[in-house]
Amino acid sequence: MGRTTTFGTTARIIHWIMAVLVILMLAAGLIMTQEIDRSIRNLLFIFHKGTGAVLLLLVAFRIIWRLTHPAPPLPRTIPAIQRFAAYTTHLGLYVFLVIMVVSGYVRVTTGGFPIELLNALGVPPLLPKADAVAETAKAIHATAKYGLIALIVMHVGAAAYHGLVLRDGVLSRMWPPYTKSA
Ligand code: HEM
Repeated sequence: MGRTTTFGTTARIIHWIMAVLVILMLAAGLIMTQEIDRSIRNLLFIFHKGTGAVLLLLVAFRIIWRLTHPAPPLPRTIPAIQRFAAYTTHLGLYVFLVIMVVSGYVRVTTGGFPIELLNALGVPPLLPKADAVAETAKAIHATAKYGLIALIVMHVGAAAYHGLVLRDGVLSRMWPPYTKSA
């Protein structure tokens, strides 16, 4: 019965894996586009592109999982305006994650650059070289990061408010399973 008020184990595991990977991706992306030591820059690019390819699959899996496993209802104490804010923030996070992984993949493949991890696995690029497309995708990738960062700040802020101030059980719905029987 308690299961209907919290997210399932799969949703929690994928949430926290993606949370860590997205933060690392933002940090790597922001650092590697600065004037830094070339060898560190190359390593960050290889990490960013490979982890980004993994995230592409994780985002797709997560959206399918979410559509087939509806979120548990929020406590009745949550006002309508906050429900709406939560809904739009979560939807926005999905939208911006899709924009980031797709624009990143398009930018690299149409730019004619390798994704070393996929090459090692024998996965060929799905798109042909097209410089104009690569430049557009690059601009989208660089601009959309601001939207994603803003949504993450709101999301983490709301989670902290529920967990530390309201203590209404909303955070524990998604907290790792070991703190609660899952
Ligand atoms: C959630 C996923 C992703 C996040 C959060 C992310 C984040 C970022 C950020 C913050 C930058 C710096 C942009 C700038 O300030 O100009 C960047 C650049 C870049 N990202 Fe991503 N990225 C993601 C996915 C991907 C994927 C899937 C790929 C490719 C497979 C990719 C490839 C690149 C490349 C090549 C650059 C350098 C852009 C350039 O200047 O050419 N990213 N990314």
